[in-house]
Amino acid sequence: MIDMHSHILPGIDDGARDLDEGLALLRLAEADGVTTQVLTPHIHPVRYDNTLASIRLACERLAQAAGQAGLTIRLEFAAEIRIGSEIMALVTADQIPWLGVWEGRKVLLLEFPYTGIPVGSLNLVAWLRQRDIVPMLAHPERIFPIQDDFEKLRPFLAAGCLAQITAGSLLGDFGPAALRVALRLLEGGQVGLIASDCHNLTYRPPKLGAGVEAAARVIGERAARELVTTVPRRMRAALGAA
Ligand SMILES: [Fe+2]
Repeated sequence: MIDMHSHILPGIDDGARDLDEGLALLRLAEADGVTTQVLTPHIHPVRYDNTLASIRLACERLAQAAGQAGLTIRLEFAAEIRIGSEIMALVTADQIPWLGVWEGRKVLLLEFPYTGIPVGSLNLVAWLRQRDIVPMLAHPERIFPIQDDFEKLRPFLAAGCLAQITAGSLLGDFGPAALRVALRLLEGGQVGLIASDCHNLTYRPPKLGAGVEAAARVIGERAARELVTTVPRRMRAALGAA
């Protein structure tokens, strides 16, 4: 499996606190059947001022430590980017750590605040789409206004956004509302990827395998596995070729 969302790089966001925790998370992911772990720290101006260069460097360091610790899991990186006008400057300066390429267009992992979809979000999506960039919404099932009203998500899907759901949402880890929205997206064929979004050993460990099993009960084994194998592989391979 390829896990396209994780906070394992130590000490640079609200994920792994130190190298030991980062390595322990990688060990769990590897045991779970993840062969490529994509590291997606937050880029959230002021709160987490990570950059393309700093994330690349942190990824190289963790990969070296993982190799020395005897892990075989492959490490790659992207970022989970908080929605905001700063994204336009990052795109213009070619400083986005892309999640992948899908149908010839670069994919950006886009994070909304849990409490609300900011005014102007659809304008930003349109601005990105005009530049052949596809936003992939990080766990829309965990956004409260979408839990309250699924219709709030529709304009984003209509504008060409992809949706990525968190494995734990399918296991009830984020409550019944997140589970309900995740199932609805799955049943509607609107899930582009399933990813772990793991943060730590205690509350948010990697659980991709269990999430895929839960998805398989809804859309079948083959379709569920594609969301963590064929689809992410194609997205990452196209990124390498871009
Ligand atoms: Fe995340």
